[in-house]
Amino acid sequence: MTSPAGARELFRSRFGGTADGVWFAPGRVNLMGEHTDYNEGYVLPFALGQGIVAAAARRADRRLVLCSAREPGQVEVDLDRLAPGGVTGWAAYPAGVAWALAAAGHEVPGAALAIDSGVPAGAGLSSSAALECVTALALTELAGPARDRRELAAIARRAENDFVGVPSGIMDQSASLLSQRGHALLLDCRSLESSQVPFDPAASRARLLLINTRVRHELTAGEYGRRRAECARAAGLLGVPSLRYLTDTAELDRIDDPVLRRRARHVVTDDQRVLEVVGWLTSAPGDAYPEIGRLLTQAHLSLRDDFEISWPEADVAVEAALAAGALGARMIGGGFGGSVLALVREDAADPVRAAVADAFARRSWTAPEFLAAAPSDGARRAGLQ
Ligand code: GLA
Repeated sequence: MTSPAGARELFRSRFGGTADGVWFAPGRVNLMGEHTDYNEGYVLPFALGQGIVAAAARRADRRLVLCSAREPGQVEVDLDRLAPGGVTGWAAYPAGVAWALAAAGHEVPGAALAIDSGVPAGAGLSSSAALECVTALALTELAGPARDRRELAAIARRAENDFVGVPSGIMDQSASLLSQRGHALLLDCRSLESSQVPFDPAASRARLLLINTRVRHELTAGEYGRRRAECARAAGLLGVPSLRYLTDTAELDRIDDPVLRRRARHVVTDDQRVLEVVGWLTSAPGDAYPEIGRLLTQAHLSLRDDFEISWPEADVAVEAALAAGALGARMIGGGFGGSVLALVREDAADPVRAAVADAFARRSWTAPEFLAAAPSDGARRAGLQ
C-alpha cells in the first residue's frame, strides 16, 4: 500500500536527497451518472481512500524528473519544450499537467516527483485522474500558495484531453480534488457548480462493495469517443446544445435512428437517477438505501442495453450480487472493463462476495478483486513524516 513515508523513501532511493513534501490524490467511484459529464449533465461520484502519492521537490533547473514505484528508471522532460504527443506512457499524465498549468499561465517550477499508486490501474477507478491531480497539487504548491481546486480540475482534464489525447469529461478530476469524507459530490457539469451530499451507508447498516472484474478498462480504446460522438449527434438532431437540455424521454421519439435514441435515453434517464439518489440521501437517508439499490440496478440495465458499454464479467457480477441479496449493483466508469459497485446490507456482504467469486470461478475467469469503498477526502498535502 502507498504511504507518505513510502513515497519519501522512494524519492530518497531513486533521486537521493529529501522531498520538500508529499501529496496525495484519490481515485474515485461514481455512485450515479455515467457518461453524463460530457453531456453537461449531473454526476455523483465520491473519492476512495485509495489513491496516488507523490513525494516532490523543486529543482533549480527547468526539468521535470519523474519516477514510479512500478517502473524502473526515471523519465526526464524539459519544461520549456513540452508539446502534446512528446511524452508517452504513464509519464504523459504528469508531463501533460505541467504543460496545461503553463498554458493556463501558472508558474511551473523544475521538480522531481517520486510516485506510488494504491489504485489498481485499468480498474475503472480513475488512477489516471489521480495521477494528474496529485501532480497538479504538488507542482502548484511547490511554486506558491494553494490554487482554486475547480481550476486545477479543469487543468488536469485539459492535460488528459489535449496532451494525452483521451476525450474524457470533468468528473474524475473533480471527484479527486473536491470530494469530502462521508459525502458524495453532486456536480452539475454545465454550470460546474458542486455540492456535498451526506453519504454514509455504514450509518444505515449498508455497505458498498467494489468488485474489480479484472478486465482492464482502457479509455483510449475508441468506443468512449464513439459514444461521445453519438450523444453529440443525438443532441444535434434534437436541436439542443447537449443532452442535458432534455428532461423528458418522450422528446427522444423524434430521433429516428434507434441506436442514437437508446444512447440519448441512457443519458437522460441517468441524469434523472442522479437527482433521485440525491433526493433520497437528503430527504430520507434512513430509507434511502433500498431505493438507491433499485436505481443502481436500473442504471446497470440502461448502461448494458441502451448505452451498450457493459461487459460479460460485469453483467455476471451484477446478477450474482443481486441473486445473493444485494440491494442493487451496476458497472461503473467508462465501460468495457473495470469495476462493479454493489450496495448491500451489512449482513449480506460476505454472501455477496462469495456468490460473485463463485460465479467467476465456475466460468474459469480470473478471480475478481474486492476493494473497500468508503467515501473519503479529496486530494491534499500529506502530513510531514
Ligand atoms: C471516464 C471519464 C469520465 C466519465 C466516465 C463515464 O471515467 O474519464 O469523464 O465520462 O468515464 O461516466
